[in-house]
Amino acid sequence: MLTHRHTQGDGVVAVRDGAVAIAGRPILRGIDLDVRRGEFVALLGPNGSGKSTLIRALTGLRPTAGGSVSLFGTPLAKFHDWPRVGFVPQRPSAASGVPTSVWEVVASGRLTRRRLFRPLLRHDRAAIRDALDVVGLADRARDGVSTLSGGQQQRVLIARALAGEPELLFLDEPTAGVDRANQEALADALGLLSRRGATIILVAHELGPLEPLVDRVVMMRDGRIVYDGPPAGRDHAHPDHGHHHDAPRPDHLPQVSGPLDSPGAR
Ligand SMILES: Nc1ncnc2c1ncn2[C@@H]1O[C@H](COP(=O)(O)OP(=O)(O)O)[C@@H](O)[C@H]1O
Ligand SMILES: [Mg+2]
Repeated sequence: MLTHRHTQGDGVVAVRDGAVAIAGRPILRGIDLDVRRGEFVALLGPNGSGKSTLIRALTGLRPTAGGSVSLFGTPLAKFHDWPRVGFVPQRPSAASGVPTSVWEVVASGRLTRRRLFRPLLRHDRAAIRDALDVVGLADRARDGVSTLSGGQQQRVLIARALAGEPELLFLDEPTAGVDRANQEALADALGLLSRRGATIILVAHELGPLEPLVDRVVMMRDGRIVYDGPPAGRDHAHPDHGHHHDAPRPDHLPQVSGPLDSPGAR
């Protein structure tokens, strides 16, 4: 069943009977999940249901106690293609006080795309500028991140992930504690990334302005997946204007380029 090929098939995330234990206590059990290229998945569920733990297991930050996890068809233990993957962690609540500029934070997301200790090249700078544009913060590039509002700081973290041109992007509660205007800016940024072909897996309490972007809801409770399907009410009241791929099968997309494609970025 294990394939060691670097497959270019549709499967971006595959979990079979996944389990995670922390300090001997079972946290996730019986997780089966397949996410295909181009899908926009919302991971929902009450506090403590295991959403962050699942994201950490999928990004290799938390070892699994059983079952298997694959990314892009490669078992996690053999997966080294991390530049294809972006991760926006749950926002740390503490104010840093470190006078890091917005541009520096976003540039740090570019590090995986270049050789260590090489200066940023022109296309690196273009990717950073593009990411800042996408989240609407180009005019704040030189400002210290600590001078920004919480919602703007969240957008900086998203720009940092976008600067790495991920094909697969995980976001853990990017809208928590973020005002409506910033949620809408975030939805615009993620909508653009999604239209560029990225696969997005996002943890949220309430979808708000993200709702029209979501193809699929995975609901967790007590460390298990209890629902996996279309968003509730999708067939009823929602105007659905932002819903761009009912059949998430972007076969025509270039398979070797990142969604924020900049020529020669490798
Ligand atoms: N580092 C940790 N040490 C001990 N327990 C943890 C740790 N991280 C998460 N847990 C426990 O795992 C469960 C799931 O947590 P989490 O994945 O953070 O849930 P969610 O993101 O859905 O709120 C909770 O019961 C939580 O207390
Ligand atoms: Mg969490």
